[in-house]
Amino acid sequence: MVSYLDAQSAPLKNTGQIRLHGPEGFEAMRKACQLTARCLDELASIVAPGVATNTIDRFVFEFGADQGALPATLNYRGYTKSSCTSINHVVCHGIPDDKLLREGDIVNIDVTYIVDGWHGDSSRMYPVGEIKRAAERLMEVTHESLMRGIAAVRPGARTGAIGAAIQTYAEAERCSVVRDFCGHGVGQLFHDAPNILHYGTPNEGVELREGMIFTIEPMINLGRPHVKVLADGWTAVTRDRSLTAQYEHTVGVTKDGCEVFTVSPAGLFAPGLKLG
Ligand code: MF3
Ligand code: CO
Ligand code: CO
Repeated sequence: MVSYLDAQSAPLKNTGQIRLHGPEGFEAMRKACQLTARCLDELASIVAPGVATNTIDRFVFEFGADQGALPATLNYRGYTKSSCTSINHVVCHGIPDDKLLREGDIVNIDVTYIVDGWHGDSSRMYPVGEIKRAAERLMEVTHESLMRGIAAVRPGARTGAIGAAIQTYAEAERCSVVRDFCGHGVGQLFHDAPNILHYGTPNEGVELREGMIFTIEPMINLGRPHVKVLADGWTAVTRDRSLTAQYEHTVGVTKDGCEVFTVSPAGLFAPGLKLG
């Protein structure tokens, strides 16, 4: 049985109960999420052929440090980087290293800053130089999948409505939805209840209530949905090595819909895409 609790008077561990945040929590999340969004905006002019993912990661660390913010991924469950950089067939949790980005790559950069104890979690796709039409289309489909998921958020709907909106659209576009990773409650904890599946039916999952804060972060593949995790224990790749994409927003449920905390101040949430 699912239960909800007042975020202000609850212990800070994931007990499976769902926190309902008030105006103070929403304000704190705006601050954390906007720092993350500004960092991702800056990265649009850094990503280029010949740039190492470690260079991106260092920028993420320093941009945060300048504002007194630490990346949540640093030393998280043994992860030692400030970001995840997932290239081409890497679904998520790609580890920044000395490898250089190449013309035609598509890369997801996922950043979570902790500001005053609150977590702002977002990721975007970046094209590296000129990319193929198939890659551009996958990014378009994935971005639109996220937007349709967000449009399904309102009090009274279930989390399954988000997954259904994403899956219905992505599969109609002949793409597949990764099942092995999901969105998550977020706030003073990095990964909290509930899980937000990116597939399913509208009558499944827990009921959304005003004050809930969570991420939606669909991973969409051009090929089959199956993934495997490499020997490093983190890097998740498509089993069929097909191209994959992901966009992530952090949202808070409002009286009649949701507020997207991680909107790009520069209008660069989907660099390289002409959105219509
Ligand atoms: N930011 C990722 C998410 O969207 C989590 C990364 S955890 C890490 O939930 F350890 F891989 F960095
Ligand atoms: Co997340
Ligand atoms: Co993330």
